[in-house]
Amino acid sequence: MSMSIPHGGTLIQRFEPGRSVDDLIHEVELDAIALSDLELIGIGAYSPLTGFLKGENYRSVVEHMRLTEGQPWSIPITLPVSQEKAEALQLGDEVKLVKEGVVYGVLSLEEKYVPDKNLEAEKVYRTTDLAHPGVKKLFERGEVYLGGDIVLIQRPEKPFATYHLDPVDTRQAFADRGWETIVGFQTRNPVHRAHEYIQKTALETVDGLFLNPLVGETKSDDIPANVRMESYEVLLEKYYPTERVFLAVFPAAMRYAGPREAIFHALVRKNYGCTHFIVGRDHAGVGSYYGTYDAQKIFAEFKPGELGIQPLFFEHAFYCEACGNMATPKTCPHDSEHHVALSGTKVRAMLRNGERPPATFSRAEVADVLIRGVSETSVTTG
Ligand code: ADX
Repeated sequence: MSMSIPHGGTLIQRFEPGRSVDDLIHEVELDAIALSDLELIGIGAYSPLTGFLKGENYRSVVEHMRLTEGQPWSIPITLPVSQEKAEALQLGDEVKLVKEGVVYGVLSLEEKYVPDKNLEAEKVYRTTDLAHPGVKKLFERGEVYLGGDIVLIQRPEKPFATYHLDPVDTRQAFADRGWETIVGFQTRNPVHRAHEYIQKTALETVDGLFLNPLVGETKSDDIPANVRMESYEVLLEKYYPTERVFLAVFPAAMRYAGPREAIFHALVRKNYGCTHFIVGRDHAGVGSYYGTYDAQKIFAEFKPGELGIQPLFFEHAFYCEACGNMATPKTCPHDSEHHVALSGTKVRAMLRNGERPPATFSRAEVADVLIRGVSETSVTTG
């Protein structure tokens, strides 16, 4: 297999920096999710989407995980506004998309519709529990969705500029390196030994690893992106073959939608040029809403080849003292008492106390960055 074609066949490009908005009257204030979605649509990361979903497409995605034209798509990309705002807008309006006084794009308003949020929660998140961060966010956002094509006219701030590459750039970078098979890795966490193990195991069989940490909105107790970026840099420098790894950020918001988000993450990485995508334990999960391997099982709901990217599944990875190396239940014959298992809570407590977790859990260099990051940003978790 050579480098993947974009989802839907064409890499969407809707960035028009020179576009004038002087004569536009109406505007919609974006939240952080909508702003990141606007950018990702504009640069083609969400190909074949050309705008925020209209009603028919929205219902099709929610209920069938497909766009009306049949392509797989698992997360509804929507623009919610208040009832009041929706009433002030007319179909056919060109609407400025604004955040904190800056105009980032324009929406050609084609539809206003009221979503069934309970159904959306049930289908996309598999729960309507408001304790789920994605569901909570879904219900907090506006009650009317606006649908229509967008253009992106101003790029949001890029805090990690050198790592902020568009699909067109990453595709070029992979081609320049002569990579034909590229495995994408999504993460919202620091890279611990288990992540490193599954990445490197995958890398044994493909040309390149695309380390693509999500740096958009995450829940407040996830480690901040700036701390994570520093931890990835030290790790790559000391432990990875630089000519086989490419680091770039994924500026999307985290939905915590588990299985549905795994499909979405895979499709988007296809747009960035990946041919393969890693799905490990509880991918994009939160709490205990999803079964450990639900995010792998969902791939069976699509016909082989339909997604256009090959998922690589990994079981729960850990260090086994008896094996003397990293392993999974698939490769390790020993009882769990030999396995290094640390809860997130325990790791967070250690980092807060300035203590490194064992080297079998996290590289010392990574631990040191996290300890410093935790103390500087007074994050309470890791
Ligand atoms: S995620 O929300 O971005 O998926 P995380 O950064 O923890 O969270 O995981 C990144 C990827 O590594 C996911 O595919 C996840 O399934 C996988 N993963 C995380 N920890 C392990 C582990 N111990 N064993 C196997 N896979 C793992």
